[in-house]
Amino acid sequence: AHPSTTAEQKMTAVCELLQTSMDHYDWVGFYFANHEAQTLHLKAYAGEETDHTVIPFGKGICGQVAVSNANFVVPDVKAQDNYIACSITVKAEIVVPLFKNGKNIGQIDIDSNTPDPFTSEDERFLEWVNEEVAKIL
Ligand code: SME
Repeated sequence: AHPSTTAEQKMTAVCELLQTSMDHYDWVGFYFANHEAQTLHLKAYAGEETDHTVIPFGKGICGQVAVSNANFVVPDVKAQDNYIACSITVKAEIVVPLFKNGKNIGQIDIDSNTPDPFTSEDERFLEWVNEEVAKIL
């Protein structure tokens, strides 16, 4: 999946809105899959710059969601052994896959500096956000 520049600008606006309006969303980004290369690529984000702009399938929380096609809620990142740390301030993470025509093409990834902040409401909300984003791709 290769979102257009315009789609990336719109997704950046979505990231900024979520990061500024939700207290427990400290870093928000969209990764997209290159299924041939089996890698995820960061296309839009709000929050601190990250070194992890390319993530192999299977690696970290993001890479696991690329292969599981399922939401991954991490209440405590320290309890995960397959985890890629982006910032020492991060306590928790949620990753929700983004589907287009039934295919897992990417994901929204959110880091929180608050321990165990994510509920099923976040999952339903982020599933809806991804459905809306899929419409512009
Ligand atoms: N923590 C993620 C890596 C991406 S950073 O959070 C932006 C992971 O374990 O996949």
